[in-house]
Amino acid sequence: MSRTKESIGFSVVVLAAGLGKRMRSKLPKVLHQIAGKPLLFHVLHQIQKVWPDAPIAVVVGHARENVEEYVRNEPAFKSMKIQFIYQAEQKGTGHAARCAMDSEWGNDQVRMKRAVLVLPGDLPLIQSEMIKNLIIPLKKSDALRLLVCRLTHPTGYGRIVRKRGNGAVLRIVEEKDASPKEKLISEVATSIYLFESQFLQKSLRRLSSQNAQSEYYLTDVISFAVKAKKKIDVLSWEKSEDLQGVNDLWELSLAEKALNLRLIRHWASHGVKFVDPGNTKIDFNVQLEEGALIHPGVILSGETKIGSFAQIGPYCNLKDMEVSEGAIVKVGTVGDQSFIGPNAQVGPYAHLRPESRIGSKAKIGNFVELKKTKIGDGTSVAHLSYLGDAEVGKNVNIGCGFVTCNFDGRVIDGERKHRTIIEDDVFMGSDCQTVAPVRIGRGAFVASGSTITENVLPEDLAIARSRQVNKSGYARRLKQPKEE
Ligand code: UD1
Ligand code: CA
Repeated sequence: MSRTKESIGFSVVVLAAGLGKRMRSKLPKVLHQIAGKPLLFHVLHQIQKVWPDAPIAVVVGHARENVEEYVRNEPAFKSMKIQFIYQAEQKGTGHAARCAMDSEWGNDQVRMKRAVLVLPGDLPLIQSEMIKNLIIPLKKSDALRLLVCRLTHPTGYGRIVRKRGNGAVLRIVEEKDASPKEKLISEVATSIYLFESQFLQKSLRRLSSQNAQSEYYLTDVISFAVKAKKKIDVLSWEKSEDLQGVNDLWELSLAEKALNLRLIRHWASHGVKFVDPGNTKIDFNVQLEEGALIHPGVILSGETKIGSFAQIGPYCNLKDMEVSEGAIVKVGTVGDQSFIGPNAQVGPYAHLRPESRIGSKAKIGNFVELKKTKIGDGTSVAHLSYLGDAEVGKNVNIGCGFVTCNFDGRVIDGERKHRTIIEDDVFMGSDCQTVAPVRIGRGAFVASGSTITENVLPEDLAIARSRQVNKSGYARRLKQPKEE
C-alpha cells in the first residue's frame, strides 16, 4: 500500500525538563556527562546527523537557565534551529509534551501538518539510524509510530500491552502501574515516537494524572489512538543497548561504558590499535589517526588529537592535547592544553601544563614539568626539571635538575611570572637555576651548579658558583674525637 502524505515534514520535541531525582545530584539530569559531553548533547547530535536543520523544541524546566545556556553555547549546535519551551512544574512526560504542543511553536507544527518526533533527553546512546527509520511520513490512517524494543531486564520501563490474537498494541503500562503479569512483558516503550501533530495536541489535552505517580503520562496517548481506532505503526529496535536510559548514576556509568566502547570501536575501524579497550577512556571529541597505538590505562579527554603512529601510555592522562605523528608519550605522563611535535618523546612521568609546545624530535624525560614553555626542535630536557614561562631554542641540552626561577613573589601590572629565554644550541649543565627575567645567548655554555642571575652572551661560558677548596688531609682531622 502506498503511503499518502498526510504529514508534511517533521519537527522534534526533546523532553529535558525533568529533575532526575534518582540521580541524587543538583545538576539537571540532561547535563550529566558521558564521554565528556552532556546527555542532551548526544541526543541532539544524533538528530543533527540525520537532519541538521530540524525544527526542535527542547522542553526545559529544572535548572532551565543552565540547560539553555549549555545548548546556546555548544559550538556544534550553532546552526541548529532550537527553541526552548518552559515547563514550570514537572508533572510528567505527557505534561512536558503538552507544554510544547500548546505553545506557539506547537500550533505552528499543527498548522503546517508536520509530524512530531518526541524523544527524551536521557537516552544518550540512541543512533541516528533510529531517527532515520522513524521520520518516514505517517499513513493517513496512522496516529503515530512507536519505537519499541525487547529487554532481558525490562524493570523500570513502560511495557507494551498487546491484544491476544492479532497482537495489536493496546496500551503502554508503566512499571509502577503494572500488574505482576504485565511486569513479565519484555517488550518495552523506548519513549521515542512520531505523532501526527493534531492528534498529539488533542490527546495531550485529555490526559489525566490518575496513576501510581500522579503524573501525566505521554504513554497514555497510545490508548487514545486505540480508542479512536487509529493505527499505530510499531518499529522494533534490535540492539537494546542503544536504548539504555539514564535514570540514576549506575545507569550513567553503564551508558558511559557503552559509549566509550562504541567510540573505541569506531577508531579501531579507522586503524587505531587499543591494547586494552576496557581499560582506556576516550571522550567524544577526541580524534585519532591511523596507526596510533594506545596502551592500557590511557585517558584521552576534551579535544585531544593523536597523530598517526604516535604511541601513548600506559597510564597517561591527556586533556585537550595535540600529539603529532610518531611521538611517544610514555607511562604516567599528564598533559593539558599542550602540543607535542612530530617524533618527540615525553615521559615517563612528565607533566605538561597548559600552553606548552614541544618541538619535533625533542625529548622531555622523567619528572620534568613544563608550564607555558616552548621547547625547540631536537632539544633535550631529560630529567627532573621545571621550566615555566620559558622559551628554549633548538638543539639545546638541559642537564638534570634544572629550574627556571620564574616567580619573585611580586605581581607587576597583573603579570606574576618572568620569562626565561634560552637560545639555540645552549648547553645547560646539571643542577642549574636561571633567575628570570634572563636570556642565555645562542651556543652559550652554563657550568653545572650555576645560579644564573644575569644574561649570558652568545658563545660565552657562565660559571656562577663558589670555587672549590681542597684542604689536604683535613678529613682525617675532622673524624678525630675532640679533646676535652
Ligand atoms: C519513560 C516512559 C517509559 C519508557 C521510558 C524509556 C513515560 C510516562 N514513561 O519513563 O514508558 O519505558 O521513558 O526510557 O513517559 N521529563 C520532562 N518533564 C517531566 C517529566 C519528565 O521533561 O515532567 C523528561 C525527563 O527530563 C526525561 C524524559 O522526560 O528526559 C523521560 O522522563 P523519565 O522520568 O526519565 O521517564 P521514565 O521513568 O524513564
Ligand atoms: Ca528515563
